[in-house]
Amino acid sequence: MSTVTLTPSQAASHHRSDSLAAAIEHDPASYRMLSGDRPTGALHVGHYFGSLQNRIRLQDAGVEVLVLIADYQAVTDRVVSADLPEVVMGVMADYLAVGIDPDRAVIFAHSQVPALNQLLLPFLSLVSVAEIGRNPTVKDEVAAAGLATVSGLMFTYPVHQAADILFCHANLVPVGMDQLPHLEITRTIARRFNDRYSPGSPYFPEPAALLSSAPLLLGIDGQKMSKSRHNTIPLRATADETARLLGRAKTDSQRAMSYEPDRRPEVASLLLLTALCRGMTPEEVAAEIGAGGAARLKAAATDAVNDRFAPIRARRAALAADPGYLRAALAKGNERASAIADGTLRIVRRLMHQQY
Ligand code: TRP
Repeated sequence: MSTVTLTPSQAASHHRSDSLAAAIEHDPASYRMLSGDRPTGALHVGHYFGSLQNRIRLQDAGVEVLVLIADYQAVTDRVVSADLPEVVMGVMADYLAVGIDPDRAVIFAHSQVPALNQLLLPFLSLVSVAEIGRNPTVKDEVAAAGLATVSGLMFTYPVHQAADILFCHANLVPVGMDQLPHLEITRTIARRFNDRYSPGSPYFPEPAALLSSAPLLLGIDGQKMSKSRHNTIPLRATADETARLLGRAKTDSQRAMSYEPDRRPEVASLLLLTALCRGMTPEEVAAEIGAGGAARLKAAATDAVNDRFAPIRARRAALAADPGYLRAALAKGNERASAIADGTLRIVRRLMHQQY
């Protein structure tokens, strides 16, 4: 199988992730996982295979799970509109439909947990403007959004993300490779806070990234699958919508199938999607389709997605029909997250001598 070329530090992260996975299996109760998504649209199959599946696996293994709907991160590059509640409830429905259990996991939103947001202030004092300005993911996002100006929130959101992770003392963060710079600044902030305000008995843990083993799925235009590029297969799409979307997917004119991510990225991504849905390898899917060409590949991908997600889609439809239940589940998560954040802020104030 051809693989993506990794830099030495990315390879080291993968290696750390692998040994971490073994350690979690051995002692799940010593881990607390936090992960999150921006509420900018419906979650899609890339989210599912890239991170949702990891979260559910950890939850079911007995790891304590917190899931954040990052509604302040949503305003880094856009103005949110009156449909935000609908988008947030849609994400809630996606979460519960895929198997995140609101009785075990804490699902919450930034804007509803004031004490989490307040941690941004002490954390900003621990990093320099130059350090914040070097973040490659922020630079990519600014370029991708085509922003004429960069807001202070866009510039500093990785520090806010450190607050997301540290407010609950999460020591495990399942993310994609693009999030590694944010994890690095989180570790720096934890270390500096401990050195300055809690020497001898570190207050914040330095969290580890858990990288997904599934390579990235491309969107139907061959670019990175992302809500803002409008190139996704949403989890909640109907079977017909899925057929229409995949029917438009970019491929190439070579009829014989082969899994070559570097040379044939679009075909490789459809093979991978089909394989992930069916629990096979992309090479096996390629062999099955043989010289069937793009039409057979798209039909196979459509069937695979529709079969795999049928139960999730049915559950999602039932959940979406009960907005009161979704709102109550989020309210409960917000309350639990606030209790944790209030406790952390109280200790942070004490360690920073802000008790009068
Ligand atoms: N930055 C993440 C993204 O764009 C979302 C996010 C916000 C997050 N806070 C987080 C991810 C904390 C992991 C941990 O997808």
